[in-house]
Amino acid sequence: MDRLEIIGGSPLQGEVKVEGAKNAALPILFSSILTSKGCRFDQVPNLLDIDATIKLLTHLGVQVSFDKQTGQVDLCAEDINTLEAPYDLVRKMRASVLALGPLVARFGKAKVSLPGGCAIGARPIQFHLEGLKKLGAQIELEEGYVLAKSKKLIGDRIKLDFPSVGATENLMMAASLAQGETLIENAAREPEIVDLANTLIKMGSEIKGQGTENISIQGKQELLGCHHQVMGDRIEAATYLTAAFMTQGKVKVTGVSESDLKEVLHKFTQAGATINCDQNSIELITNSRPQSCDITTEPFPGFPTDMQAQFMALMSLAEGVSWITENIFENRFMHVPELNRLGAQIEVQGHRAKVTGVKKLKAAPLMATDLRASACLVLGGLSAEGKTTVSRVYHLDRGYDQIEVKLQNLGAQIQRVKSS
Ligand code: UD1
Repeated sequence: MDRLEIIGGSPLQGEVKVEGAKNAALPILFSSILTSKGCRFDQVPNLLDIDATIKLLTHLGVQVSFDKQTGQVDLCAEDINTLEAPYDLVRKMRASVLALGPLVARFGKAKVSLPGGCAIGARPIQFHLEGLKKLGAQIELEEGYVLAKSKKLIGDRIKLDFPSVGATENLMMAASLAQGETLIENAAREPEIVDLANTLIKMGSEIKGQGTENISIQGKQELLGCHHQVMGDRIEAATYLTAAFMTQGKVKVTGVSESDLKEVLHKFTQAGATINCDQNSIELITNSRPQSCDITTEPFPGFPTDMQAQFMALMSLAEGVSWITENIFENRFMHVPELNRLGAQIEVQGHRAKVTGVKKLKAAPLMATDLRASACLVLGGLSAEGKTTVSRVYHLDRGYDQIEVKLQNLGAQIQRVKSS
């Protein structure tokens, strides 16, 4: 397995362009199942999770070609061979459950493996299933699989108990081929939901209210092909801005919109950085140690759970004590013992962590446990004195394209050591 070797201490300087957002690209790729016509998507990031999605779509019979140089993906789901997403493919990428809504909506039947838990929590899918039942699907669980059946989905009012991102996406896709109108109440409001809605609208679906808690979808008999560019990755952008902050540098990220990151930028400012934004870029400048501040993860527009680990790494260097509260996933503090190995002083108390800032972090060998935790360890290494090694880098490769190259271009001393 590859590892990253980082010699910390260089202030990061320069400009970096973000890739297309992984969390927007995944549902958008699955939306191609909804139509027999060709779809073309631009700015699809070159990540392990995208490879896993393409593998699953190909298994189903979708014709897919991915030009990794340009980020363009062409898909055509005219001929589907199977309506089954097997465990072996689903376990590699939990978002595979997003095949369920489109398959049952278009073909009246689907068999998708239950994804099971993952490092950050149990991650059940009952909201997806309850919602599909409301649309008239019969759902059974059998030997670790969800079996969904329906002659024709019928639009209805669905109230989610929690604004789940995945459930909102699955239901928006299914409702696009349901008869009549569906109203999703307490829907997730993440920018990635809006990007998927915009894709579905290009396919002919009539969607209103995306980005608010009430989304209405007027279903169509059939959907058309479309051409859409995936939005920029707000989490990747915020990760590079955090790297700039932790190394007391000056970095501009391009290809991302300020409005997608309001709460994170507000916290950066509260911690003492200067933020300059224009239409398509965000710059962070600082030459001093961060001030402590508290964060609580919440559904959008609150502070994103996918930035919690990185912000904790930042606060580990802050002047004063910060409290980090994780409200979305029950087990998302696995990075704490690893950050403490760098000399951070973090104490977990249930779903809260008390971070007592230290002046300096010191290099250590570290082990990545999940995607965003890995990013926070790289950030720790970039600011620590000495040489830090981060192993199990494949977690990072699920969500960050060429992170070491992008960081090198910003002046970081980081290299990937390939496993023999
Ligand atoms: C998506 C993102 C992930 C992000 C998360 C929260 C993708 C591919 N992944 O994950 O990066 O961290 O949103 O912003 O877009 N829940 C249930 N039952 C359900 C569905 C969810 O209890 O049926 C719970 C989950 O266990 C979790 C919380 O709701 O505790 C939020 O989950 P959800 O918003 O669904 O996250 P994902 O779509 O899985």
